[in-house]
Amino acid sequence: MRVTDPRGRFLGQALHSPRSEIRLRLLERTDRVVDDAWWRARIAEAAARRQAIDADAFRVIYGEGDGLPSLIVDRYGRYLVAQLLSAGLETMRDMIIAALGAVLEPAGVLLRNDAAVRRREGLDEQVTLAWGEVPERIEVREGAIRYYAAPWTGQKTGAFLDQRTARLAAGRVAVPGGRALDCFSYHGSFALHLARHAASVTALDVSAEALARGADNAALNGFTNIAWTEADAFEALRAFERARERFDTIVLDPPAFAKSRATVPQALRGYREINLRAMRILAPGGSLVTASCSHHVRRPEFLGMLAEAAADSGRRLVLRELLGQGEDHPEILTIPETGYLKGAVLGLLP
Ligand SMILES: C[S@@+](CC[C@H](N)C(=O)[O-])C[C@H]1O[C@@H](n2cnc3c(N)ncnc32)[C@H](O)[C@@H]1O
Repeated sequence: MRVTDPRGRFLGQALHSPRSEIRLRLLERTDRVVDDAWWRARIAEAAARRQAIDADAFRVIYGEGDGLPSLIVDRYGRYLVAQLLSAGLETMRDMIIAALGAVLEPAGVLLRNDAAVRRREGLDEQVTLAWGEVPERIEVREGAIRYYAAPWTGQKTGAFLDQRTARLAAGRVAVPGGRALDCFSYHGSFALHLARHAASVTALDVSAEALARGADNAALNGFTNIAWTEADAFEALRAFERARERFDTIVLDPPAFAKSRATVPQALRGYREINLRAMRILAPGGSLVTASCSHHVRRPEFLGMLAEAAADSGRRLVLRELLGQGEDHPEILTIPETGYLKGAVLGLLP
């Protein structure tokens, strides 16, 4: 749709969502026709920006961050999983699928249009095969490890692709021959990177189904040093502290504790609690890789929370590395909604 200002001056072309709170999403600033060739060019540019990624599972199109608002496309090996998250985009569905096929040459395209935000656009929620074939599970590579993604049923589009760079960082800082702990492990993607270096890894999650898939992932890599434990991370961390257990490398990758602005104070208390416990059970010389994916908790609040937890722990922790979204989830500085993932690698001085 053509957009003009009140005086009739041309502003650009936008996706139009008649029933959404967000009526217009700017797609093109010129009057160039948005046709097959336009989509192919945008997709090819986004793919080119990811060429240096050392993995075959990553986000190829991150909506607004790639200038394609409300479009998500993830690559899992030879397959693509896409989400069309606005009514305006939905009207261009066939053109987008065709352009993805032409540029990225996948063996299949799955639409994971089961995201709740589609309801606000007046759209239905469904998972449909748009093109070719997409298996129930896909073996993919991330750096030196391999894992199975579950495109039809897994969380998000089949895996937490957004933490790829943090997982590689965890692999880098894992203490060789040490004891490692991966809290909120899902299907064990951090645990796998830790297991390459640590003598033993404990992977914790409340989902037995995710842990079973984690065990399959360990077998895929030939790792026998990961213990898969169904537990509440809050309780487990308290129990480890009471038992005076120590770990050389700890990962905290919880779900978003703050679902809205109003719940930020409560969420920060939750983050502080798990970080404080983790700091107390960290062995001297060890590393804590900690993250928050809550949109509403901004980076300064996250770092402030870590400083408070460190003060309460009575231990001296150093900030080794700041973590955030990788190049496949580009954050636009002037659009805070495009940035949500924050993290840090902390070290405990020996
Ligand atoms: C953000 S995901 C973790 C993603 C994972 N680290 C990865 O990189 O693939 C959060 C996970 O926390 C788990 N979870 C939620 N609440 C939990 C709790 N209280 N204790 C342990 N796990 C929990 C969920 O089942 C989910 O698998």
